[in-house]
Amino acid sequence: MADRKTQKLLEGLQSDLERELKGMLQYTYQASMILGVGSLSISPYLRQEGMEELKHIGFLCDQIVALGGTPKLTTQKFSETRDLKTMLENDLDAERESILEYRERVKQADATGEVGLKMRLEELIAEETDHMRQLERILRGWV
Ligand SMILES: [Fe+2]
Ligand SMILES: [Fe+2]
Repeated sequence: MADRKTQKLLEGLQSDLERELKGMLQYTYQASMILGVGSLSISPYLRQEGMEELKHIGFLCDQIVALGGTPKLTTQKFSETRDLKTMLENDLDAERESILEYRERVKQADATGEVGLKMRLEELIAEETDHMRQLERILRGWV
């Protein structure tokens, strides 16, 4: 049985997994649902974002198993808006939430003595920050 700190870390990683799954589904759905000229540039970008979130899902599943847990691949419903700007704003909110949550997970991993995991989570923060910056850039140029 995992100690209390490890248990908390596992709970956090499980909630990260649910959020990443939601993000991956949302990006994948959006990439297909964008119509018009915007689809030429934004659809491939969102498709690729979905693949990056899929990598995060695999990483989190492996980490949960390594700590003695069992990953649960369930998630909440994602937004099915057809409005492109609203889609991107939802994505930006989700990336900001990911960064805040992973910062929490870094602290928990540190408190548990999981130095390697802490470093990998910091890499995730860097990747989610890139996603956030890209979305901010697209939205800043909105006309
Ligand atoms: Fe992610
Ligand atoms: Fe992301």
